[in-house]
Amino acid sequence: MCGIVGYIGQRRAYDILIQGLHRLEYRGYDSSGVAIINEEGSLNIYKSKGKVEALEHYAENKDLSGNIGIAHTRWATHGEPNDINAHPHCSESGRIAMVHNGTIENYSVLKEALSNKGYTFVSQTDTEVAVQLIEYIMQTNNCSAFEAVKEATKRIVGAYAIAVVDRQNPNTIIAARQSSPLVIGVGEDEYFIASDATPIIEYTNKVVYLNDGEIAVINRGEELKVYDCKSADESKIEITELQMSIEELEKGGYPHFMLKEIFEQPRTLADCISGRISADGKQVTLSGIIEHKDIFLNTNRIIIVACGTSWHAALIGKHLIEDFCRIPVVVEYASEFRYSNPVITKGDVLIALSQSGETADTLAALEKAKSAGAFVFGICNVIGSSIPRATDSGCYIHVGPEIGVASTKAFTGQVTVLAMMSLLIGQMKGTISDSKLQEIASDIRRVPTLIKEIFKLNDQIQELAKIFTYAHNFLYLGRGYNYPSALEGALKLKEISYIHAEGYPAAEMKHGTIALIDNDMPSVVIAIKDNVYEKTVSNIQQVKARGGKVVAIVTEGDTIVSQMADYVLEVPQISECLTPLLTAIPLQLLAYYIAVNKGRNVDQPRNLAKSVTVE
Ligand code: F6R
Repeated sequence: MCGIVGYIGQRRAYDILIQGLHRLEYRGYDSSGVAIINEEGSLNIYKSKGKVEALEHYAENKDLSGNIGIAHTRWATHGEPNDINAHPHCSESGRIAMVHNGTIENYSVLKEALSNKGYTFVSQTDTEVAVQLIEYIMQTNNCSAFEAVKEATKRIVGAYAIAVVDRQNPNTIIAARQSSPLVIGVGEDEYFIASDATPIIEYTNKVVYLNDGEIAVINRGEELKVYDCKSADESKIEITELQMSIEELEKGGYPHFMLKEIFEQPRTLADCISGRISADGKQVTLSGIIEHKDIFLNTNRIIIVACGTSWHAALIGKHLIEDFCRIPVVVEYASEFRYSNPVITKGDVLIALSQSGETADTLAALEKAKSAGAFVFGICNVIGSSIPRATDSGCYIHVGPEIGVASTKAFTGQVTVLAMMSLLIGQMKGTISDSKLQEIASDIRRVPTLIKEIFKLNDQIQELAKIFTYAHNFLYLGRGYNYPSALEGALKLKEISYIHAEGYPAAEMKHGTIALIDNDMPSVVIAIKDNVYEKTVSNIQQVKARGGKVVAIVTEGDTIVSQMADYVLEVPQISECLTPLLTAIPLQLLAYYIAVNKGRNVDQPRNLAKSVTVE
């Protein structure tokens, strides 16, 4: 949550900062702001409530000169979204400006101590406390901003990625991180700072990922220096080359990133599978597992921790791993797991499943399991993010940047990796036959083509969306492999259309939820031909008997459900364990078109942000 950008070099900083904020807007869009030091040494700060566009509008005709600056796009934690609480925040004297992503847990104690020393505060934010603390340290210790930030990091408790500029030193940006991401782009005589690499890629593909507890001094025209905040030892700088293209960050003619990302799935899943399944379907290769074969052969239990959509993918992973590897799997909400008292033993494997690789709860759950001796494995999308860097091993889903706040292609990428993983471990353990493995692996290879087939439903779904745009409640029902699909379908609808929706195991509905069914409560039922097909058919009848409208997602050629459901969407036949990869597509499109009809901001739904780096 919150995106930060910084620039120092020869170009006009404002342009780079604004463009960077647009790239990071998916991380938060309550307010935004920039702080730029101009040639005369003035520190100009412009902030505005709302989207980056509002900031641009506000900054028109202002002095935007200067080639050093920092900027921020906010997802509010401390204090409501308004101009005053927007970042950058400034020290009382107006000398130091700072942007911050994260939360400072001891800010009220620090604020009280500073108030007692005569400091006053204009905002309700924890960030203003931190910037005042930095200036206080500078004054009392008579030191540079670098020394003061280093000292401040020892007094601050919490998560932060920060960038700081000092009006009296227009040739330096200080950046530091603890539990929130920060990337430094290294150009020719210029440096870029950002919460992730997306604002950097159009200028340079060379980046340095700051580690937790590190502080960087970025001096104009000099080599980048990174130090450990506590020991003050200089860190060895590792430059990573980014494998990302600008096209991946643009809408490419689609009205929304979400729609682009839905339609990208045939390609993203082909990328996800690429090099991992042999052409004959007989062999699955995931080096992160093969290199730790003994761990997976000997583990007695796998725990998967995740949040939101990733948690839904994890539930599908449980079915896959239990079916093909015969290893018990527990799926936990990361936010619950981290504060519970789980029994973790050395033989446990914990999988942290996360698109962003930055979700604070998932990261904390992982650390908890790691310190209890579990082997920790990451399945993430964002390369170089915090979770892959904290795990013993892992594999990427390789679906490219997901910018729409509602996760789509990452979900199918996660399920695909979990499917490949379960086949591989099953093969290593001998719990899946060669023929079964080949059948399913070959089916995984067919998924991209089958998804293209499903896109033919696009017009039909658009029409269907018109019928249901004004519904106030929705029920999503599914069983077995598609119970998590029902949860995911409901979440997609809720988060982008703001229509209340609940996902349920279809049979569980009888135990209470069925009381809600009437003519105004449509049900989306995933009724594909699986081992519980007949049971799901009965559940549809139960809904229909109570006057409920049913949209059914069925297997191509189904003649039974089509006679009882009000609307039917057909998906192609595939191995049962892979059906969530196909049923996800109409669910995503239905949510998308309903939200568009309601005039919602699909890519940036209210109150949400893409990367949840706070608790
Ligand atoms: C919903 C959505 C969220 C994320 C959740 C976890 O569409 O995107 O529910 O799935 O915040 O995020 P990651 O996967 O980045 O850990």
